[in-house]
Amino acid sequence: MKQRYYITTPIYYVNGAPHIGHAYTSIAADVLARWKRLDGFDVFFLTGTDEHGQKVEQAASEMGLDPQSYTDQVSADFRDMADRMGISYDDFIRTTEERHKAGCAALWQRMEAAGEIYLGHYEGWYAVRDEAFYDEAELTTRPDGSKVAPSGAPVEWVREPSYFFRLSAWQERLLKFYDEHPDFIAPQSSRNEVLSFVRGGLRDLSISRTSFKWGIPVPGDPAHVMYVWLDALANYITALGYPDADAPRWVFWPADLHVVGKEITRFHAVYWPAFLMAAGVATPKRVSANGWWVVEGEKMSKSLGNVLEAREMAATYGLDQVRYFLLREKPFGADGNVSRQALITRINVELANDLGNLAQRSLSLIARNCSGALPGRGPATEDDTALLAAAEALPETLRDRLDRQAFHEALEETWKVIRAANGYIDRQAPWALRRTDPVRMAAVLRVLADTLRAVATVLQPFMPGSMGRMLDQLGVPKDARDLAALAAPLPDGTPLPEPQGVFPRYVEAAG
Ligand code: MSP
Repeated sequence: MKQRYYITTPIYYVNGAPHIGHAYTSIAADVLARWKRLDGFDVFFLTGTDEHGQKVEQAASEMGLDPQSYTDQVSADFRDMADRMGISYDDFIRTTEERHKAGCAALWQRMEAAGEIYLGHYEGWYAVRDEAFYDEAELTTRPDGSKVAPSGAPVEWVREPSYFFRLSAWQERLLKFYDEHPDFIAPQSSRNEVLSFVRGGLRDLSISRTSFKWGIPVPGDPAHVMYVWLDALANYITALGYPDADAPRWVFWPADLHVVGKEITRFHAVYWPAFLMAAGVATPKRVSANGWWVVEGEKMSKSLGNVLEAREMAATYGLDQVRYFLLREKPFGADGNVSRQALITRINVELANDLGNLAQRSLSLIARNCSGALPGRGPATEDDTALLAAAEALPETLRDRLDRQAFHEALEETWKVIRAANGYIDRQAPWALRRTDPVRMAAVLRVLADTLRAVATVLQPFMPGSMGRMLDQLGVPKDARDLAALAAPLPDGTPLPEPQGVFPRYVEAAG
């Protein structure tokens, strides 16, 4: 039976249009989902939208719309972004759906039945932009006297009746949990942050609000709506049919990986496991946090007018090119800069030149000199063996890197093989062998075709469209494109279609 793998993206707030930051997290999760499928896993990949709370309610009212029709619109836009960015999700959950509301109410009831929830009064600071409560000590005072959260979000003083979750009682159990699961939070910097937050002592968490209406009503007390983070986190289980343990999808729980942005690790690595343990539900296996992108060195903001839209970037530079750049340019957990120049350089040097030209040169030599059919291997030279061994090692190397979300290393390792293949083709010079030793020429071209097949196979999760086309040109049947299939060589004489460039150079428009 196939091993299961459940991976999620954060569900995105529908208070504004999707941008490249949202696309990035989803693309990273998509690469992993596709990789696991390629590696023979039964994958469930979830994404969706986070539609309740004060922030969304305010955004709707600013647009002069009722929250439901507003969220319908924005959620559809996020779904369109996911579709156009090639996100291969198995389900797209919206927190305004009935299935979610019902599952979320059930989670509340389990926590309440376990004695983990009580009614009290909340008084303190709240940042609507972050949908988060802050302690006085976490805030900074601006020169004008106003206070802001560590994220820079303005805070307001809130005073209202509220239900609380007994988070204060979970400190020891959480610390024990992190200790027993050293890989639960990545990267190390996020893990350290979470550990020091929990070691610093936990206060009970306010989990309901009464000052607005746009949320899931608290079971038995509809004057309260649930805190939007409790509502949102629950999506990871409600999408699987929680609380129905017989729901067909429930077999996917616990999640193997929650991919999140670094600013929301506290919610995923502290509150979420505590809620789940309180309700008697298994905890997820790992939370991996991505760093943040800035654009040409500046934080993206509407006022600077520098917000990059993923779909527009894909239309300008090519979808696979943008996906490649985002995962290659920086380590996953680190912050990075989207610069037009760096993007164009990667497209022209690494994609068009290193990989595109290698494929084009090899395939057109086969088309011209081997009657367009895959030549057979010859007796292997040392040079052949070294290149083939490097190519054959790729699946194992990438498995290791991708299990640690080290996308940039996975790509760097693949490019080592591509560069080695470029060195090989130059040394072997098959175009010259054509006259002097056509048998050896055929053998060299076969080594190149096999190397390209391995490279294109492992790169499919990153660049599904172009690598699919490259595998078409290499004559690899659609049902022989997973990692396991690499073990079986393609039959000699497999007819190959006319080669066509896969990665055009990006040329600046004149003017
Ligand atoms: N709704 C919550 C998440 C709930 S999950 C149960 C939320 N939504 S969000 O719309 O603000 O999206 C946040 C995610 O988008 C971040 O966690 C991060 O993954 C991604 N990014 C948003 N801006 C980003 C950048 N500038 N750079 C990289 N990723 C960023 O938080």
